[in-house]
Amino acid sequence: MRQDYKNYVHHLLADKTINPHRKALILRESSYALVEELFESPDVEKALEESKGIIENFVNFMENEPESMGHLIGLSSHDFYTYTHSLDVGIYSLGLAKVAGYSGHELFLMGQGALFHDIGKRQVDIEIICKNGPLDDEEWKQMQKHPEYGLVILQETNAPEEIIACCFEHHENSLGNGYPQQLSAEEIHPMARIVALTDTFDALTTKRSYNQPMPPSKALDFMAVKLKGKYDPDLLSAMYETLFKMEKHKEKLSK
Ligand SMILES: [Fe+2]
Repeated sequence: MRQDYKNYVHHLLADKTINPHRKALILRESSYALVEELFESPDVEKALEESKGIIENFVNFMENEPESMGHLIGLSSHDFYTYTHSLDVGIYSLGLAKVAGYSGHELFLMGQGALFHDIGKRQVDIEIICKNGPLDDEEWKQMQKHPEYGLVILQETNAPEEIIACCFEHHENSLGNGYPQQLSAEEIHPMARIVALTDTFDALTTKRSYNQPMPPSKALDFMAVKLKGKYDPDLLSAMYETLFKMEKHKEKLSK
């Protein structure tokens, strides 16, 4: 963890003259560079250890600012890169897990699991990752291997089972037709269910080369209707609740 980042964020979060929306923006932007650095690191064990500092900052922010998720959730308008996507999924998963009752060490594991859920993509050909358009069958087959690649990478470290489950099971779904194991709803690890939801939510609300982003509430409606049955209904309601609070907050700000 770079010391200058740590000091900077520490001061930022303690500064009462900066409003929460601006804090959310700066915290997110300053963390992107660090996540990119972690993702480039060949030493995954070390990257996992260093990720704790980033997660700690977001957990502190959420603890000190009751409407922090509302501020964080509407900010994602970046292009879709693995590391920006991973940080956003990490942030949303922390917020959702908090609403679902997670705290302390479990919340940290949730953040790490979500941050590293796509670590297996480093084994997928870069041309496929960056392809400007839909994937063909062969490319799609390789892309769908990323949970298994991630499993192998994380098993070489001493990552706890929760982190491994987020990586290996985040493309499973409650209908039992996900991949790679086609697990049933109850078989999917509770933390992986959270990542499955926030992963799709972020993909739908982020600008990619071949599709336009949906506004957050449209994305949740799409998941509830078009992707019906795939996600944990309690988690989906919790996500709606978070969004609703955010919209109320924006109304207040605009008055
Ligand atoms: Fe994935």
